[in-house]
Amino acid sequence: MNVRSNPMSESSAAKIGRQSQLLSAQLQSLRERLYEPDARKTLKTFTSREAAGLLGIAESTLRQMSLDGEGVIPDRQDNGRRIYTLDQINEIRHHLAKKRPAEALDFLPRRREGDKLQVIAVANFKGGSAKTTTTIHLAHYLAISGLRVLALDLDPQASLSAMFGYQPEFDVDENETVYAAIRYDDRRRPIREVIRQTYFAGIDLIPANLELMEYEHETPQAIAEGHGRGDEIFFRRLASVINEVEADYDVVLIDAPPQLGYLTLGALCAATGLLITIHPAMIDVASMNQFLAMMSDLMHVIEERGGVLQHDFIRYVITRHNPNDGPQVNVVTLLRSLFKDDVLAPAVVETTAIASAGLEKKSLYEMSRGSVGRDTLNRALESVDAVNNDILQLMKQCWGRK
Ligand SMILES: Nc1ncnc2c1ncn2[C@@H]1O[C@H](COP(=O)(O)OP(=O)(O)OP(=O)(O)O)[C@@H](O)[C@H]1O
Ligand SMILES: [Mg+2]
Repeated sequence: MNVRSNPMSESSAAKIGRQSQLLSAQLQSLRERLYEPDARKTLKTFTSREAAGLLGIAESTLRQMSLDGEGVIPDRQDNGRRIYTLDQINEIRHHLAKKRPAEALDFLPRRREGDKLQVIAVANFKGGSAKTTTTIHLAHYLAISGLRVLALDLDPQASLSAMFGYQPEFDVDENETVYAAIRYDDRRRPIREVIRQTYFAGIDLIPANLELMEYEHETPQAIAEGHGRGDEIFFRRLASVINEVEADYDVVLIDAPPQLGYLTLGALCAATGLLITIHPAMIDVASMNQFLAMMSDLMHVIEERGGVLQHDFIRYVITRHNPNDGPQVNVVTLLRSLFKDDVLAPAVVETTAIASAGLEKKSLYEMSRGSVGRDTLNRALESVDAVNNDILQLMKQCWGRK
């Protein structure tokens, strides 16, 4: 290594290492100021109007149920208003599904016996194409709809974990990411051991941190050594460990890293459905095109090795769309004309509501009225809900529902 002649001067490695420590300490103290020492993120509660909306029943019916002591007894706020937790809403869903079997699927959309676990990978190697934002909003939406979600953070940057209140450097120790479950050596752990419950009812998380990079480094050697056959081969490892917890979830959402490495390949192979996020700026579409070409090549390589890649659906999701930007609109028109129905009809608009929510490590579903303008929040929610609802419908189609 070429070390500078001045013995007092710091090597670049030492300097960057020192700066990283400085930043890390600063982040830690910032975090301590933001949150109480062991304060955890908590999930908001729902008004009886919101709860009734989620349950698909009249607010008066819900009130009557509470007066009759049927289902669950909600807490009352100081002003006497009833408030429901998501756990309670789910309890009522179970109750109503039992009471009105003909409508059971409407009340409780979970998969039934014989329905396939949905594994949805959100991918694009373009950084900042809103993969994490798409994943978190979909996870929250599906959980609020009563589904059991496993959120799998496959990105060493760990942005999804951060959204759940986990800082990769402080809260996620060695061998606590999915790497632990797919690693090649004898420190391998069952996937169940790295799954965490989150503050969000219905969502479990496998957090990430930098150790995921090890998988990228170790896989070439594992291949060279002929390590792994069948389910143990590098591109099937993720699918096979997800299979171990199959019964516990309706859907697994994978936030893939912005590169086409072995982790992303594992996600593509594990996925039953694929969401490719696109920010419709020309430059992003050009790089997405590279991504598609490389992805296709790699998928061929896997197929040659006996892997089967068949997704129930592949959808391009237009994100951060500014419909007032002429060039963007042209790009979207072009994509729709080329890829037809594979481009999801609704798009997520570019909005300060999502940007501000992101800064607070929240989804739109967690924003309180008042933190951003009411109209802004409503418009943002409208576009995100439309996207999420379309994806839920795709899942339901896979389950043979209308
Ligand atoms: N619809 C939107 N409107 C405004 N800002 C958005 C929107 N979607 C995402 N953002 C912001 O854009 C940034 C990048 O989004 P995000 O982190 O989801 O992208 P990503 O694809 O996961 O990035 P990476 O490749 O680094 O993992 C974030 O700051 C996020 O808050
Ligand atoms: Mg991300």
